[in-house]
Amino acid sequence: MELALMNLAADTARRAGDLVVDGRRSGRFRVSTKSSPTDVVTEWDSASENFIVSHIAKHRPDDGFVGEEGTSTAGTSGVSWLIDPIDGTTNFLYDLPGWAVSVAAIDTATGDTLAGVVHVPAQRETFAAARGHGSWLGGRRLHVVSSADRPEPTIGTALVATGFGYDPERRRRQGRRTAWLLPRVRDIRRFGAAAVELCHVAAGRVDAYLEDGLGAWDIAAGVLVATEAGAVASDFSGGPVRPAQVVVAHPAIHTELLDLLHSCPRDEEWPD
Ligand code: IPD
Repeated sequence: MELALMNLAADTARRAGDLVVDGRRSGRFRVSTKSSPTDVVTEWDSASENFIVSHIAKHRPDDGFVGEEGTSTAGTSGVSWLIDPIDGTTNFLYDLPGWAVSVAAIDTATGDTLAGVVHVPAQRETFAAARGHGSWLGGRRLHVVSSADRPEPTIGTALVATGFGYDPERRRRQGRRTAWLLPRVRDIRRFGAAAVELCHVAAGRVDAYLEDGLGAWDIAAGVLVATEAGAVASDFSGGPVRPAQVVVAHPAIHTELLDLLHSCPRDEEWPD
C-alpha cells in the first residue's frame, strides 16, 4: 500500500512540476500576497494544487486532501493527502532553481505519513519515500549513515541548513538563533524550500536542517524521505517532530544540535 501511494505521488508530482514549468514558460505569471507582503502566491501554485488533487482523486476518489493554497476535503478511505504545490515560492518567483512540488499521503487515523515525494523540476530530481520501505533519489536508495563519501559529521564540522518564515518578528528570532549556531558549526545554508532541505539531509548534502513555524505541507514528505534514509527527526526539545519545530539531522549530531539549541540565549537576553 505505501509503495503504491509513493508511486502515485511521484507520478503526480512530476506531472505537476511539468505543468508549472510550462506555465512559467508561457509567460502567464499572476502574483498576489498572503500573510505578509513577502509571502507570495502565484497562479501556478493554485494550478499545481488543483492538478494534484484532481489527478490523485481520479485514482483514489475516497481520499481526503489538504493543500497550502486552501484545499480541504475530508475523505472516507483513511488516507488523506498533504500538498505543497510549490514549496519555495520565492525561489520560483525569482526563477531560482530550488523549488519543489511536495506530496504526502497520511494515515488519517494515526497521522503517520505513509508515503512522500519531493520533486525538484529544475534539478530533474525526484525524492521519494514509503514508510517502512526506505527512500530513494530516482533509482538510488538513500542512506544517511553509510554514505561513504564523507566521514561522520561532528557538530563542529556539520553543515546545517535552515530557513526563515514570513513574519518579521519570527525572522528576528530565527536570525538570532542562526547567529548563535554560525560560529559553532561548519557553516549555514538557506536554500529557500523546506521540503528540498529535508531531502538534502537524506542525500547527505547537508548534515542537518532546522526551522520553526512551518506548515504541515512543508515537511510531511521531506521528513519521511529523511527519516527513511536514517536521519533523526524531532522538535527542538527532542519530542516528536512537528511543523512548529523541526530538527532533522544525521544521527551522529542530532543530540548535540539539540544541546546547542537549548543553550541559545533566550530572546530577552540578546542586546537590541
Ligand atoms: C516556505 C519555504 C521556506 C521556509 C518558509 C516556508 P513556501 O514555504 O519552505 O524555505 O523557510 O518557512 O514558508 O511559502 O515557499 O511554500
